[in-house]
Amino acid sequence: MTDHNTIDRTQLFSLDPDWFDQVIIRRLRRADLPALEWEGEFTRFRNVYAEVYKRMHDGVAYMWGADLPEVGLIGQVFVQFNTNRAELADGFKRAYIHSFRVQPAYRRAGVGTLLMETAEEDLVGRGFREVSLNVTYQNPDARRLYERLGYQVISEDPGRWWYYDQNNRMQEVHEPGWRMLKALVE
Ligand SMILES: CC(C)(COP(=O)(O)OP(=O)(O)OC[C@H]1O[C@@H](n2cnc3c(N)ncnc32)[C@H](O)[C@@H]1OP(=O)(O)O)[C@@H](O)C(=O)NCCC(=O)NCCS
Repeated sequence: MTDHNTIDRTQLFSLDPDWFDQVIIRRLRRADLPALEWEGEFTRFRNVYAEVYKRMHDGVAYMWGADLPEVGLIGQVFVQFNTNRAELADGFKRAYIHSFRVQPAYRRAGVGTLLMETAEEDLVGRGFREVSLNVTYQNPDARRLYERLGYQVISEDPGRWWYYDQNNRMQEVHEPGWRMLKALVE
């Protein structure tokens, strides 16, 4: 037996070749936060997601989701308008994009591009002139996508950061990679 929660997403995807036309890019709501954990794969980021959500309410971040009706959230990208590292985001000219992912069954159809373009258009409307992001050395496919979208490598980044997991234990991350930048056009 199957219901909304246990539906086989891959099967639904293969049954409806027009699924991409139904994708809606929208602002995430509090009720969406559990879905961002991808049934366990990203449970460790529960506090991170809650913090970005809070920052969205404070007006210094934005969470975009790709919603496929009948399926749910299939992708996301988050934007920080400011951070304590001005080279990433400075609150008025440069914004920082992170936590960009699309569920494996829905990749390579344009959802990622749609999420990025929507986030960038919104930033133009807010007066931002540049977007920055980091991509690890281990992710050349994502780097290629960013280059296609107009981002250029401007430096390397040690990729050291930390967060508190769902058990409030501090986790340190070391993901060295490239820092990329794109000038936004009005
Ligand atoms: C990067 C990602 C969000 C792109 O989403 P998407 O919906 O597949 O994006 P689009 O369909 O608009 O573009 C497809 C391009 O993404 C690139 N890509 C990057 N990582 C990929 C992956 N793990 N699997 C498939 N394609 C990937 C491919 O180069 C592809 O271009 P190509 O067809 O020329 O090879 C998605 O692949 C993903 O979630 N990857 C894992 C998480 C990740 O790496 N995020 C980026 C962190 S910097």
